[in-house]
Amino acid sequence: MWKTFCLSLLVAGLFSCQEGKRYQSFKPGEIWLDNAEVHINAHGGGILYDGGRYYWFGEHKTEGEAGNRANVGVHCYSSDDLYNWIDEGIALSVEPEGSGSPIEKGCILERPKVIHNAKTGKYVMWFHLEPKGMGYRGAQSGVAVSDQVTGPYQFLHAGRINAGKWAANASEELKNAPVPALEDAYSGGELPGHPDSLNIHKRDLEGGQMARDMNLFVDDDGKAYHIYASEENSTLQIAQLTDDYTDHNGVYIRCFAGRFMEAPAMFKHNGKYYLMMSGCTGWASNAARSAVADSVLGEWKELGNPCVDADSATTYHSQSTYILPMPGHPDKFIYMGDRWTPENAIDGRYIWLPLEFDGDRFVIHWQDEWKM
Ligand code: DGJ
Repeated sequence: MWKTFCLSLLVAGLFSCQEGKRYQSFKPGEIWLDNAEVHINAHGGGILYDGGRYYWFGEHKTEGEAGNRANVGVHCYSSDDLYNWIDEGIALSVEPEGSGSPIEKGCILERPKVIHNAKTGKYVMWFHLEPKGMGYRGAQSGVAVSDQVTGPYQFLHAGRINAGKWAANASEELKNAPVPALEDAYSGGELPGHPDSLNIHKRDLEGGQMARDMNLFVDDDGKAYHIYASEENSTLQIAQLTDDYTDHNGVYIRCFAGRFMEAPAMFKHNGKYYLMMSGCTGWASNAARSAVADSVLGEWKELGNPCVDADSATTYHSQSTYILPMPGHPDKFIYMGDRWTPENAIDGRYIWLPLEFDGDRFVIHWQDEWKM
């Protein structure tokens, strides 16, 4: 009797274990089901490794073109092997329509990232926010916090960045140059000249710097950084966060001025800092860029396209969203990218590929299927 009971427990255990382990490999670009057999809905996402588990946060998209707007919020999944993901629900919910909240349903809320603050014990989420009805003109950043990794996250504030503060590497020339008069000033679309000739950095000094595509990076000393496409997307900026990670502390740099980079993702390897970015072509994929520096706050040196196989000119039909360091494996990283489907946002696919080092640069090869 006791033997039969133990055996049935063992069989049930084995079954449930296999049930939770549908995948044993990555298949970039294919439908990727969660534990409820639903395609994972966490676009423009990033991963936090916390308490021995991986937490994947990303944009919850809905059907059709309108699904690119934030109709639900930020979705969270968890995993212990990176192949199989459990739906942990909506970590940050949008506020009801008509509430007037900056994160009201129908706003644009993109590229959410979560980091943990060891001092306060809080989980801190940052995201690119375009309040409803502003198109992409808002160029704001939003912050939300939670005591639990999976949420619910409470929205704190949103806005432009470091109002009244010059970038640490802003040249005296730029500081003293005039901002073009209104009739010559930039009013959307392609920039008529180099961004420095338009002095967008100075234009936005008082109201704060723009921030669209973004990421976060926490260094070994606990300092956290916000990396974002600024100055009408023409120039990347890297800004230090306050000790509690919920604001900026006024220290920041401009880099790659006039290079129009989006989708930044930062990581550290052998004491050097690396960045991967895309060009700036809306939802359409383009050739990735990479760069290296001895310190987060620069000088940054471009290294070129890290993708080396066929379709490298489109980053294998994807755009970077995060580079995941493998805990316990200092030389192993995973490139995480989005293959956007803007006409039916919810169908977007995930391109995860191993990232390798080739001398001083990193490279990403295409693989139809791979294992860690
Ligand atoms: C490219 C960005 O990387 C995406 O996050 C999104 O903002 C699209 N542009 C919108 O066109």
